[in-house]
Amino acid sequence: MQTSLVKTSKVGKNDNQVLLLSKDNKITSNVLTYEEKKYVAQKIKSGSSFITINKLAYSLFLVPFIKESKKFRLIEKYRDLGAKIATELNGLKLSEVNVTTSLSSKDEILALSEGMVLSNYQFLKYFSDAKKRKNSLKKVSVFSDKVSSKEVSELANLCISVCYSRDLVNEPLSYLTAEQMSSEVQKLAKESGFSVKVLRKKQIEALKMGGLLAVNKGSVDPPTFNIMEWKPKNAKNKKPYVLVGKGVVYDTGGMSLKPTRGSMDEMKCDMGGAATVIGTMYSLAKNKADVHVIALVPATDNRPGGNAYVPGDVIKMYSGKTIEVLNTDAEGRMILADALAYAQHYKPKLVLDFATLTGSAQAAIGNFASVTMGNASDTTFKSLEKAGEDTFERIVRFPFWSEYGGMIKSSIADAKNVGGAFAGAITAGKFLEIFTKDKKGKAAYPWIHVDIAGPAFLSSKDSYRSKEGTGYGVRLMYDFLTKQK
Ligand code: BES
Ligand code: ZN
Ligand code: ZN
Repeated sequence: MQTSLVKTSKVGKNDNQVLLLSKDNKITSNVLTYEEKKYVAQKIKSGSSFITINKLAYSLFLVPFIKESKKFRLIEKYRDLGAKIATELNGLKLSEVNVTTSLSSKDEILALSEGMVLSNYQFLKYFSDAKKRKNSLKKVSVFSDKVSSKEVSELANLCISVCYSRDLVNEPLSYLTAEQMSSEVQKLAKESGFSVKVLRKKQIEALKMGGLLAVNKGSVDPPTFNIMEWKPKNAKNKKPYVLVGKGVVYDTGGMSLKPTRGSMDEMKCDMGGAATVIGTMYSLAKNKADVHVIALVPATDNRPGGNAYVPGDVIKMYSGKTIEVLNTDAEGRMILADALAYAQHYKPKLVLDFATLTGSAQAAIGNFASVTMGNASDTTFKSLEKAGEDTFERIVRFPFWSEYGGMIKSSIADAKNVGGAFAGAITAGKFLEIFTKDKKGKAAYPWIHVDIAGPAFLSSKDSYRSKEGTGYGVRLMYDFLTKQK
């Protein structure tokens, strides 16, 4: 069950309340006793981030004014606070709360509510005593004339989409095979109004998607290629945005088998890119965003099996280029390559691909941001960076010099699927770049590659970011796409 987030126009006298204080932290509330006011003042002085007052029939949470000169950092602090207060509410076994203030801005109120709802996420499907484990918090109501009900419902839909994306990542392979993921997408499409076409193995073979088929060879489960589209009548863009998501539902490494502990264990996360783009399509459709977007998700697991592809194989890809496979664990780029080449049919305005692509990206910058590169303009990168700060799903742009392309030259085919010991995230990007070019070797479209290996999956909860699947990228893409002119 999702935490519901709504706007309310009245507050009952026994409602629990989060109250954001004004700049001078003056407490005008006439419900506090003299003793309580003294207690609050003392707590504020000692730097508490919020103060709980338990009345007989309800609880009050006072949030002192936050000083922070950078707007995006201030907003993030409100999200963090939302997470803390949600934990407190659950500790007190409370089920409903109002967020209210007369003074702070709408962005602050929305951020606090967002933090509460996202932090209250749980993945309980596989517990036999799920009911007992459920958080008490069920409903957050926003009481403020600075926020419209449309803004609240837009945020609520976005949070639902983020949580859906988390669910997808958290589902293990024992449930979420490539075909199962496609039926989930079909359900979602029906519910929210975007369209979807699922290509099955026969069609993938007919199209000669050699990369996707090679990775799938060791598997007993067939691959799928998912094409989603959200095309509203009032779309402000003529050419579509195309999102591509890596849908490796499980990555054992294949014949180049991964070691288990700390390496293979978490690889149900390897469709994190797919979860990002599916969650984004869901959020756009639910909110009827005025932007035309197509999403492509090639999906398969990567396993050693009777007929698995092996190091040394040469594969002819969908684009016609040939690839020498030197490591079957570099499978993400093999399936993305076919999707990026396929994307050329749409003559996109911009292509963004999301993938848990390399350990190298995670090693470089940890879980705090994704690693990006590509041929898009500096302006486009800047606006993605801005969306990254505003949503606190930050991105870091890496160098993408042609010299790195030299590291994936093969002596028997057009390219090999691994570089060397260094710059693994960049050589992976250079590999993908091959498939963003047309037959003459010119860029077919502006493109940004987003390696989310770090932020897609966490080993423990971090504020409002859940343990395991975080849903990273959904809020980033929703913000970016809806703000494009
Ligand atoms: N799915 C992994 C990358 C990954 C690592 C995602 C850690 C999330 C967390 C990818 O398919 C992979 O195995 N990449 C290899 C590439 C190498 C063989 C060139 C890697 O990064 O080690
Ligand atoms: Zn791999
Ligand atoms: Zn992988």
